[in-house]
Amino acid sequence: MQAHADRVDRALSAFLSTLPFQNTPLVDAMRHGALLGGKRLRPFLVYATGEMFGVSSQALDAPAAAIECIHAYSLIHDDLPAMDNDALRRGQPTCHIKFGEASAILAGDALQTLAFSILSDAPMPNVDAAQRVALITELARASGVAGMCGGQAMDLAAEGHRVDLPTLEQIHAHKTGALIRAAVRLGALCAGEEGRNALAPLDKFASHIGLAFQVQDDILDVVGDTATIGKSQGRDLELGKSTYPALLGLEPARQKALELCDAALDALDELTSASLDTSTLAALARYVIQRDK
Ligand code: IPE
Ligand code: IPE
Ligand code: MG
Ligand code: MG
Ligand code: MG
Repeated sequence: MQAHADRVDRALSAFLSTLPFQNTPLVDAMRHGALLGGKRLRPFLVYATGEMFGVSSQALDAPAAAIECIHAYSLIHDDLPAMDNDALRRGQPTCHIKFGEASAILAGDALQTLAFSILSDAPMPNVDAAQRVALITELARASGVAGMCGGQAMDLAAEGHRVDLPTLEQIHAHKTGALIRAAVRLGALCAGEEGRNALAPLDKFASHIGLAFQVQDDILDVVGDTATIGKSQGRDLELGKSTYPALLGLEPARQKALELCDAALDALDELTSASLDTSTLAALARYVIQRDK
């Protein structure tokens, strides 16, 4: 993961350097939100999935950087006073604490459009124009009302209420699951027909790890420590958030994460039978529920 994280950081840094208005609060806030820390899980999924089909890392740099831009923007906005009102992110002051709300809002906006600029015109060896359009369509859908933004709206609407389990699953599948699923799909879509043919099992895999990822995020909000997770522990309880531990209790939430990991591993069987090496994706599924940050 570290090698891929370094790789996408170089790509992100290069894309940010091409922007006008360097060393202004707007671009500094974008760098703060995009470059300081973070696990780079979504870029890793783009690389791991694409490389499984033999796509070059170079061709995957653009979608990997693009999806991290969307993720970074979602975190900047998620931390704003009107949303989760958080002061700590990735072990740093949140973007609005450091740069003010107006710059944080604009940095999020500009990271979102940067994602689509990158997908539209960054070099992608052996990826044709039709594939590029498919990537743009994929990321747009996963980021908007049908994906992350829709999920964030449901998350906020559920604050202070007790929602049922299917509703909670809907919230998590959208606010977090959609981008994780898109990361896997972007990697596959760079591979042409072979990748497109594998989308059904990959979707199953990604949906399971996407939900598992947010279940573990909810668990870490309860049992993690602030220094390790890099964000203030216990905020979900303070905000009356609907989470798996709040609804089910801690142990059943852990059990749910385990079941989702097993289901994700099962979903890989179909790809393994098609002679694909799924070991990296399998390791990632285990990591998602074992991580402590
Ligand atoms: C945090 O995402 C927000 C969720 C969607 C759960 P990550 O845990 O991937 O955050 P970083 O990128 O590593 O900081
Ligand atoms: C955020 O979920 C999901 C996003 C789309 C950013 P959380 O609100 O639980 O993420 P953290 O815990 O602040 O990272
Ligand atoms: Mg939130
Ligand atoms: Mg939050
Ligand atoms: Mg959280």
